[in-house]
Amino acid sequence: MARAFTIAIDGPAAAGKGTLSKAVAAHFGFAHLDTGLLYRAVGAKLLLGMDAVMAARTLTTDDLQAEDLRSPEVAQAASKVAVIADVRSALLDFQRSFARRAGGAVLDGRDIGTVICPNAEAKLFVTASAEVRADRRFAELAASGSAISRAQVLADVKERDARDRDRAEAPLKPAADAILIDTSDMDIDTAVAEAIAAIEARLAD
Ligand code: CDP
Repeated sequence: MARAFTIAIDGPAAAGKGTLSKAVAAHFGFAHLDTGLLYRAVGAKLLLGMDAVMAARTLTTDDLQAEDLRSPEVAQAASKVAVIADVRSALLDFQRSFARRAGGAVLDGRDIGTVICPNAEAKLFVTASAEVRADRRFAELAASGSAISRAQVLADVKERDARDRDRAEAPLKPAADAILIDTSDMDIDTAVAEAIAAIEARLAD
């Protein structure tokens, strides 16, 4: 499609937004931006001793390829820098221009439907119980060789959710017009099929 069409996918930590967003983007032939990676890249620089606002203002696409951005330590650092208003505003323009590119875009994060793209043509809020999300993240981390315990992953997920929900700037919450998908008892294929059906209904409008 030549016109811009934005799909906003938000939700708490490890809800399956990444897998779902990639599948949705592939289905519609849209570009995909994992906005969590922007905050993770800033968090990684904070861990290396850099000022978070400076890191956000000077972020490059190369920084998004850095190693270990998926580690639990970087995830916690990401949610800490994500409460800083100047960090969020430094990352705003990049996300908005990505969203309006010709050909369609899928962005996943926490505030896409509420703050970054309040006029997105389709909005999904993907969730699952904290236990199910911790199990999924634990399986991913274990597969990548991490020795972290399942109990620690659950504690990390809950801590990050609380920080993301309770912050003053762009807190994690569903947009009023978001379609809610609870994947607690759903496999990925079912979740993808449900998301695609909901978006197709919006595309037809
Ligand atoms: O993959 P996971 O759901 O665990 O996290 P992520 O999407 O990579 O996001 C990492 C952290 O970045 C989150 O816990 C949020 O604090 C922050 N974030 C945000 O504030 N706004 C976004 N649009 C995306 C991520």
